[in-house]
Amino acid sequence: MQYGYFDDHSREYVITRPDTPLPWINYLGCQEYFGIISHTAGGYSFYRDARLRRLTRYRYNHLPLDQGGRYLYLRDNESGAYWSPSGAPACRDLEQYTCRHGLGYSVIGSVGHGISAHTRYFVPLDENFEVWQLEIVNHRLHPVSLSVFSCIEFCLWDAQDDATNFQRNFSIGEVEIDDGVIYHKTEYRERRDHFAWFACSAPIEGFDTQREAFFGAGRGWERPVAVERGESANSVAHGWAPIGSHHVRLLLEPGETRQILFALGYHENPKDRKFDPPESQTINKETVRPAIARAVDAASADAAFSRLRAYWEERLDICQVETPDPHTNRMVNIWNAYQCMATFNLSRSASFYESGIGRGLGFRDSNQDLLGFVHMALERARQRILDLAATQLPTGGAYHQYQPLTKQGNNDIGGNFNDDPHWLILGTAAYLKETGDWSILDEPVPFDNQPGSEQPIYEHLKRSFRYTLDRLGPHGLPLIGRADWNDCLNLNCFSDTPGQSFQTTTNKDGQVAESVFIAGLFVLAAKELAAIACRHGEPADSQHCLSEAARMAETVRAQGWDGAWFLRAYDDFGRKVGSKECAEGKIFIEPQGFCVMAGIGFDDGRARQALDSVRRHLATPHGIVLQQPAYSRYYLHLGEISSYPPGYKENAGIFCHNNPWVMIAEAMTGNGDAAFDYYLRINPSAREAISDVHRNEPYVYAQMIAGRDAPTHGEAKNSWLTGTAAWNYHAVTQWILGIRPEYDGLRMAPVIPERWPGFQAVRKFRGVTYDIRVHRKGPGNAVGVTVDGHSQAGDLVPLPSDGRALVTVDVTLG
Ligand code: BGC
Ligand code: NOJ
Repeated sequence: MQYGYFDDHSREYVITRPDTPLPWINYLGCQEYFGIISHTAGGYSFYRDARLRRLTRYRYNHLPLDQGGRYLYLRDNESGAYWSPSGAPACRDLEQYTCRHGLGYSVIGSVGHGISAHTRYFVPLDENFEVWQLEIVNHRLHPVSLSVFSCIEFCLWDAQDDATNFQRNFSIGEVEIDDGVIYHKTEYRERRDHFAWFACSAPIEGFDTQREAFFGAGRGWERPVAVERGESANSVAHGWAPIGSHHVRLLLEPGETRQILFALGYHENPKDRKFDPPESQTINKETVRPAIARAVDAASADAAFSRLRAYWEERLDICQVETPDPHTNRMVNIWNAYQCMATFNLSRSASFYESGIGRGLGFRDSNQDLLGFVHMALERARQRILDLAATQLPTGGAYHQYQPLTKQGNNDIGGNFNDDPHWLILGTAAYLKETGDWSILDEPVPFDNQPGSEQPIYEHLKRSFRYTLDRLGPHGLPLIGRADWNDCLNLNCFSDTPGQSFQTTTNKDGQVAESVFIAGLFVLAAKELAAIACRHGEPADSQHCLSEAARMAETVRAQGWDGAWFLRAYDDFGRKVGSKECAEGKIFIEPQGFCVMAGIGFDDGRARQALDSVRRHLATPHGIVLQQPAYSRYYLHLGEISSYPPGYKENAGIFCHNNPWVMIAEAMTGNGDAAFDYYLRINPSAREAISDVHRNEPYVYAQMIAGRDAPTHGEAKNSWLTGTAAWNYHAVTQWILGIRPEYDGLRMAPVIPERWPGFQAVRKFRGVTYDIRVHRKGPGNAVGVTVDGHSQAGDLVPLPSDGRALVTVDVTLG
């Protein structure tokens, strides 16, 4: 069953009924001002940091689930009937409800009571405000008198404090109303230099800023008393809960169309010019007025919207493919790329599953995200790498997270996740391959943001590498520390206290528990670093990396193989994890994918054997589960992984993040059918037809799909902000379609399904457009490459030496 359809031409997903199984969301903004918006206009906005600079309030996990948003009400002034054109919060019978989620915007509306009303929500580029462009059409045969009410609830900036510290907060709320604009200025009198504003393009009939005056005692979003009676109370909030609501009256002739713009924005004033007059407590509005004027001007909004569309087109046009499979095409060309940008912008902070008050930017997460977005945001990727490296510790270790506003490592979470440092090598390698910008290696960056500790990025990478060699366990494998990629495999934690956080509780300084996954990651990262060192003019470093990689691969062979698959770990007692000897958790996905990706097991058949074991033990129709058999009870020595009921999350859920490791591994062993088969199992577009089972948005990946041990097998959760986006994008574009940026050119190494006759692609790479046509002439993956009509040896297409900007590449396969 479906709740909408893909409009690929417009690059939109069109939701045609408001009762989707869960709120299906989109993001507004791509620079500093952001919002999440659900298909019924729920959600919230913030400036840069979803916790510390929250503009509007949102109630998580409410009933109904989606509470608080960018709401409008229409009221027929003759009959008194009122409704929300976005399908919520005043839900009435609506004809033709639609929500078009597009790239950086959503258009939500409906036809009801003979009136059509659609609102386009977006954040213009380079602005710190969002625009709601409402268009109303009177389809009745007679004139109609309508009232339009807007309403948002302001958050008192720190979203965590806003939801808890009521003894203070109910006394501090302050607003100003000036010339129809509502200003929210709580705490502006003291240390804040910023305020929010909410404006409207039409002359207003009235306003409200005190929540209860607008809603009425005992009422909620569904039945605001001001809307019911058709009149605002012109309330001024003093304490309690400031809101912003405008009331506009319209008279529409039959067939007449009218546009009204609402805009919500964030503004900072210079410290010494906060007030006007200077001795007063009144906001100095001089600096914000031009922004407000732009925001509520229809022509400016249309122009800004066109610029936004062009911005996204330019990003997506960097890689466009045309394959025989529509799901691949629309995910690669539109949605997966777009999701990668969302993970770049928001990391794991704000979604319907990440509250915006919890996590900062993850070191591991943000480095992996680079794999998916680097080609779309070169400069920002460079800056991200520098920011991440600046949080690295002198030991080579890393804070697990850092706060986006301060860019400081987050002390609450700490470090000792022993995989973390290596992702910096992989992220930087991805950047170098895409850009060829070797200058980044010489960029001086401090450790732990301490002035004076600056060292070139290259040195940071070497410390990442060294970090593991300084922390080897009894079998010569890397010590796992607090956890590795699998945050829930907590072998040094031994938590027996209810409610204690597995992520932050004091761990034993374990010198025994080791990770085979980190070993695989180390081998891959060491090989990358060797390649980098070699090109950086450090052949001795390069040799050293290669010999340590070889040594670690040998250790994996000797200590990390379980007979038919790679072991997962050794626990604190030196016992195997992820072995046939275990009662539960006999085989895990991570080391199978990563060890093969690292090139381990190609010479002795183990790579193939490991992947066959994955197919036999872990593959389900909905994707590959993380491990089997699921843990049926809590194991003190394994930690959070066994805290989840079987089939969910890390306890044998389908982690869509590490499925692509197996896809890549299958592609590396030449098995295009298997790689593509796994790809389709979790591809959200391919799952659209089972939206009532999948339940999450069909246009973006979810972190997890419930595994076969779960009663809800096939149900997705935690959509949007997940490393799944980058890894699937990377796997399908670079390993299945096989168009792979490398240090010295663009490699053409497709490993596509046997039945595909070929595909076409356009890939922009280092200023050159590659027009690529792949034709299968027989089975297998042998590649023949012709560049601009000249056949060449090998599959690496170097950059044109004569400055050509367009290159045609014909690839024969088989
Ligand atoms: C989740 C993990 C996540 C971790 C991050 C755990 O509860 O299961 O998926 O990586 O929290 O803090
Ligand atoms: C989600 C986290 O963001 C990521 O860092 C981690 O690797 C996975 N969960 C697996 O635990």
